[in-house]
Amino acid sequence: MEKYIIQGGNGLYGRVDIQSAKNSVLPLLAASVLTDEQVKIRGVPAIADVENMLRILTELGCKIRRSKSCAVIDGANAVSHEIPARLTKELRSSVFMLGSVLTRFHRAKISYPGGCDIGLRPIDLHLFGLKRMGVKIVEENGYVICSAEKLKGADVLLDFPSVGATENIMLAAVKAEGVTVVRNAAKEPEIIDLQNFLNAMGAKVRGAGSSTVVIEGVKRLHGVEYEPMGDRIEAGTFLIGAAICGGEIETKGVYAENIAALLHKLRENGCKIYTKNDKIVLQSRGRLKSVDLVETTPFPGFPTDLQAQYASLCATAQGTSIVVENLFETRFRYAAELKRMGADITVRGRAAVIRGVERLHGALVTANDLRGGAALVLAALGAEGQSSVVDLSHIDRGYADFEYKLKKLGAKIKRVRV
Ligand code: UD1
Repeated sequence: MEKYIIQGGNGLYGRVDIQSAKNSVLPLLAASVLTDEQVKIRGVPAIADVENMLRILTELGCKIRRSKSCAVIDGANAVSHEIPARLTKELRSSVFMLGSVLTRFHRAKISYPGGCDIGLRPIDLHLFGLKRMGVKIVEENGYVICSAEKLKGADVLLDFPSVGATENIMLAAVKAEGVTVVRNAAKEPEIIDLQNFLNAMGAKVRGAGSSTVVIEGVKRLHGVEYEPMGDRIEAGTFLIGAAICGGEIETKGVYAENIAALLHKLRENGCKIYTKNDKIVLQSRGRLKSVDLVETTPFPGFPTDLQAQYASLCATAQGTSIVVENLFETRFRYAAELKRMGADITVRGRAAVIRGVERLHGALVTANDLRGGAALVLAALGAEGQSSVVDLSHIDRGYADFEYKLKKLGAKIKRVRV
């Protein structure tokens, strides 16, 4: 096991290049089995979730060539429709494979997916959409077994705008017979990226980014070379870090409109923010003010994936903040750890009441999930004294070169073996 040792109290200054979005790269990799031609994705971050997705593709029979930032997937010899159980346990996004594997092989078998332990995370909406498209689904011994001689276009109204379900249905629909319409679709920017990627392969998808996505089935998809969008959650994490620690940083690679909800809150907190094209500059001086209420909602609302990091900011802002988590049930596990650092947090159901204290102090804390882990690192960077953040396996799922990038901004952080 590894841990970070962090000496808190330094401001963050400088520029940070943002990686390609984890939540874009994963569905694009899932989509790569749609064609037997070569797919080249540039700027693929070295994070555990991506490496696990590449392993799944290898087990399906794809040939992978991986350089530091590029992945080439050759699906000509893909043969298997079974997504290996030991890998789906590591990676919830493996469920996106259902749609593309069904398109390619007319059948798919997957065990119930894993990922962050942040609540129930059912897949009923995914299965509902696939059933509407004529897929037969059997659930047995923890496996979901899907088959469809022919995928048929359908009108699918989602009860909730699920990101994964929207993407999965798009992947099942690209070569289906007829037109599929996803209503109450998720509007996240990563869905636009998937649409652009699929269209570059010859698909006919429109409407992504709005609540209605229309997919006209085509006969054939071809290979593609593509560079995914920047990771708005990584950018948000660094911006919150600079807000907490004080200083001035510039993120490069993410457009402000993709994290507008966060930038709006940070301005209310007292940060100065300037944006131009894909650059965001944040200045933070002195103690921040709390905002009364932050609620996570689907895009364009405040992202659940920045809730924990933002709570670390609230922990030392002047005044009381209420943070409400509307998407995942158990996304406050970091709160007990922040308390070890002196934070004043009370969690009741989906809400956390955070009374800002003057300063947190260093402590030994455990990262229990990806974003909660990042939140603890940010809190430790702003705290007085030394902290240890134990178990980096979750953080490594989503942040490439995290400590290297933080060090470049002036943070005192090092990775050590426990
Ligand atoms: C994606 C992101 C994740 C982010 C989340 C919400 C990826 C790889 N992951 O996850 O980082 O936190 O969006 O922005 O893109 N739900 C159901 N039934 C379903 C599917 C979802 O009830 O079949 C519920 C979930 O329990 C949750 C809500 O819908 O309460 C949102 O989930 P969803 O948008 O599907 O998130 P993911 O696609 O899993």
